[in-house]
Amino acid sequence: MAIVTGAASGIGAATVQRLASEGAAVIIADINDEAGAEVASQLRGEGAEAFFQHCDVGELDQLEACVAFAGSECGGLDIMMNNAFWSSGGWVHEIDPAGWERSIQIMLTAVFYGCRAAIPAMLERGRGSIVNTASIEAFGGEMQASPYATAKAGVVNFTRNVAIEYGRKGIRANAICPGIVATPLAEAFNAASTRTPEELGNLHAIGRIIRPDEIAAVVAFLCSEDASAVTGHAMTIDGGLTAHINLSGRPPYEG
Ligand SMILES: NC(=O)c1ccc[n+]([C@@H]2O[C@H](COP(=O)([O-])OP(=O)(O)OC[C@H]3O[C@@H](n4cnc5c(N)ncnc54)[C@H](O)[C@@H]3O)[C@@H](O)[C@H]2O)c1
Repeated sequence: MAIVTGAASGIGAATVQRLASEGAAVIIADINDEAGAEVASQLRGEGAEAFFQHCDVGELDQLEACVAFAGSECGGLDIMMNNAFWSSGGWVHEIDPAGWERSIQIMLTAVFYGCRAAIPAMLERGRGSIVNTASIEAFGGEMQASPYATAKAGVVNFTRNVAIEYGRKGIRANAICPGIVATPLAEAFNAASTRTPEELGNLHAIGRIIRPDEIAAVVAFLCSEDASAVTGHAMTIDGGLTAHINLSGRPPYEG
């Protein structure tokens, strides 16, 4: 069974759909009750075992309650994906400290909370796979997004630590680092960008932004037996965006 935080929308919703399609029971853990219940109900309509649990990832006891639910109602926890998002932004010298604290709480401390809650259950079973959602912004800054970039860099190294501490106990932990993915978050980012949607798509080697199901497919791989030797990895899924330095300005081959 899998718990995915932030699964009422975007990448999380696509991931529970993918994992459910492969036969996993899923818990949609989110603060958006209406959208979360809708995702669960849709999946149940497709024959999946899917539950919505109200869960604010900023609260350790709420994550622990999700893990307890997974144990009591769904036969135990196999997969934990820490994926929820909330961030403030702005010029560093103008960021409200409370917004900074909340950003770190929801994007980094909550990833620790999710692992803190899940690992005892995984240790009991002698296996488990953790996926923490970082970003390509873990590897470089973005204008007026320092809380985000800082938290995501922390997620990558925290994930390595989980991997090395629990690898011999059958628990693997990987981070994913998406580029621009078509979700409500990206829509807000695009609206604030000086680039057109077409220009944003063209930043990627594949010539377009990424679909949520393309991220979900990689998460499914990371959680599968095919990835039994993959742990402590920060998996870039960015359609080649960060592969391109682009000093020459020459366009890609169009044929
Ligand atoms: N979309 C992108 O381009 C992109 C790129 C790189 C990384 N990411 C990362 O992917 C993850 C998912 O992003 P998305 O694009 O699907 O965003 P989204 O806005 O579609 O979904 C985020 C979800 O998090 C939930 N959430 C917010 N605060 C919460 C809290 N305190 N507790 C529980 N749930 C909470 C929201 O209700 C929402 O359902 C995030 O970690 C984000 O940083 C996204």
